[in-house]
Amino acid sequence: MLRVGVMVSGGGTNLQAILDSIDSGKIQNAEIVVVVSNNPGAYALERAKNHGIEAVCLSPKEFSGREEFNRAFLKKLEEYRLDLIVLAGFLVKIPEEMVKQYEGRIINIHPSLIPSFCGVGYYGLKVHEAALDRGVKVTGATVHFVDSGMDTGPIILQKAVEVQDGDTPEVLQRRVMEQAEWEILPRAIDMIANHRI
Ligand code: GRF
Repeated sequence: MLRVGVMVSGGGTNLQAILDSIDSGKIQNAEIVVVVSNNPGAYALERAKNHGIEAVCLSPKEFSGREEFNRAFLKKLEEYRLDLIVLAGFLVKIPEEMVKQYEGRIINIHPSLIPSFCGVGYYGLKVHEAALDRGVKVTGATVHFVDSGMDTGPIILQKAVEVQDGDTPEVLQRRVMEQAEWEILPRAIDMIANHRI
């Protein structure tokens, strides 16, 4: 069984897609052993608890500096002996030590077709605003391994989604989640858990 930790900051719909995929058997040989949020108000924490999964909140605000937070964060994760860390809408920069310690074992979902609309400053709705501003006709989502850069690690899966006339950033965000993110993130976890990558 692959021991998975999911890192979240918000609503946790991607977390929910993973939970549902484990329940339905779409993801095999993997279990979520902890969900960690930096945001105490994240609904994702409720989703974890409702599923009987340990939900941990660690906010950088509770620490005197980033170094202290990073140390506590790494220490906490070590308790769960994770094989895979999934960043599912996690808005905290992953510490360099963590990237090294878990090399090839951290994946992230990004709501665009990398290398478009990614890197510093491209998160949440900003990604979709930028896509609409540029006038692209196709966008999508990407699951990739995390390296020390921002959205620069090797790509695992991508799925394209059409932009439609009259889309707002919110409407496009929802379509990208429904048609791409909720599908490719569970699929990537299943691939990793079953050595197909
Ligand atoms: C998703 O769009 C994800 O791609 C991005 O943050 C959002 C998280 O949504 N990185 P949720 O918390 O999974 O609902």
